[in-house]
Amino acid sequence: LKLGIMASGNGSNFEVVAQAIEERKLNAKIKVLIYNNPSAKAALRAKNRGVEAVLLNHRDYKKREDFDQKIVQTLRQYDVDLVIMAGWMRLVTQELIDAFPDKIINIHPSLLPSFKGVQAVEQALAAGVKITGCTVHLLRLEMDSGPILMQAAVPVFPEDTAETLHARIQIQEHRILPLAIAALGEGIAYTGATGNK
Ligand code: GRF
Repeated sequence: LKLGIMASGNGSNFEVVAQAIEERKLNAKIKVLIYNNPSAKAALRAKNRGVEAVLLNHRDYKKREDFDQKIVQTLRQYDVDLVIMAGWMRLVTQELIDAFPDKIINIHPSLLPSFKGVQAVEQALAAGVKITGCTVHLLRLEMDSGPILMQAAVPVFPEDTAETLHARIQIQEHRILPLAIAALGEGIAYTGATGNK
C-alpha cells in the first residue's frame, strides 16, 4: 500500500502512521509527505523518518485548480495509491477528488456530521455535548462530508478547554487512523452510508 500523506501542521497523525508501519502493524509505505506550510512540523517529522517531504505552497498558485493539479501530479509522480489528509487545512477541488476516486481520506476531530470546519473542538465545547470524538471519512467536495469509515467517541469533561479536549480526541485519532488505512488497503472498509455517497 503506497501512501501519500498531506499535512499542514504538527503532523502527529503522520507520525503515528509512520510508527504503525515501522512496528509492522500496517503493511504500507509512505511514499511522500506533501505540506503547504513552510513551517509545518510535519515536514521535520518526515525528514527525521527519511520520508520524502515536498513543499507545495498554495501561495505560489493563483487558482485552487492549479494548486490541486500540482498536488495530483506530485502524488502520481510518487506512485501513490492511497491519499491521507492528516490535518490538511485547505479546501480541495473536484479534480483532486476525481484523480483518486474513493482513495482520499480525511481525519476530523468530531463525530461527523456534527461540528464541521476548523473549530470543531470549540464547537463541541460550546454546544455542551458530553460525548464527541473523531471521524475518518472519504473525501468529498463539501468540507468534512463524505462516507464515514471509522469513528471513535471521546468524553467531554466539565473542566475541559479546547486544548485538553483536543488532546483526548487525538489519542483516538492516533488509534483509528492506522486502522482505517489498513481496512481500506485490505478492501474491507465499510461506510454503510445510504445518503452521503
Ligand atoms: C487533527 O485533529 C485532525 O483531526 C485535524 O487536524 C488535526 C491534525 O493534527 N484535521 P496533527 O497535525 O496530525 O497533529
